[in-house]
Amino acid sequence: MDTSTRKRNAAKAALDFIEPGVNLGIGTGSTVNHFIELLPEARARIDNVVSSSRATTQLLEEQGFEVATLNQVGDPDLYIDGADEATKHGYLVKGGGGALTREKVVATASRRFVCIIDDSKLVGMLGRFPLPVEVVPMAQAFVARRLVKLRAQPVWREGFVTDNGNHILDVHNLQISNPLEMENRLNQIPGVVTVGIFAQRPADVILIGGEEGVREIRT
Ligand code: A5P
Repeated sequence: MDTSTRKRNAAKAALDFIEPGVNLGIGTGSTVNHFIELLPEARARIDNVVSSSRATTQLLEEQGFEVATLNQVGDPDLYIDGADEATKHGYLVKGGGGALTREKVVATASRRFVCIIDDSKLVGMLGRFPLPVEVVPMAQAFVARRLVKLRAQPVWREGFVTDNGNHILDVHNLQISNPLEMENRLNQIPGVVTVGIFAQRPADVILIGGEEGVREIRT
């Protein structure tokens, strides 16, 4: 079974979490794109959709959904999003697509976070995937120097500008043995907008598409 099919199976399983009258937050990425394609099946149960990126907004509108803002509708009941890495505790690395700031806002606002991944993303320890960090452009070199002091190798994602007008540093070889502590620590560096570690707000449920079907972990 190819990776795309595993992602799609996880996305399909997430439809079962949509209860009638839901205010639904939606993440960004190729796994979520499968979810958005399938979402019209659940249209009758959805009151509002809130998006985490311009790309997701565009796809939702193409499917005929009217996208509300978080300011308009308040806290979502449910947030569905992918991840670049996940542990069985629900700690995640996100931001491979660069949408981490809005994703973290909507995830944190939401009452329940269901993460959809294929089985290659489940890891024992976070950090193999380069950690995306969104930075204010004028602070990019300063933040990079601070990261080097932590023995990591930050690489500027050249030519990429986030939906918020900021830059991304992809941080290689960072030891993330304590995700809660590392998220806090990196958040303290002036100029950092968002760190791609989701530990303060982990996933509540992980749906993992694999060869044998979809496995569910409740964290
Ligand atoms: C977007 O910025 C990311 O956080 C994505 O959610 C994450 O990179 C997973 O993407 P895929 O579903 O494309 O693997």
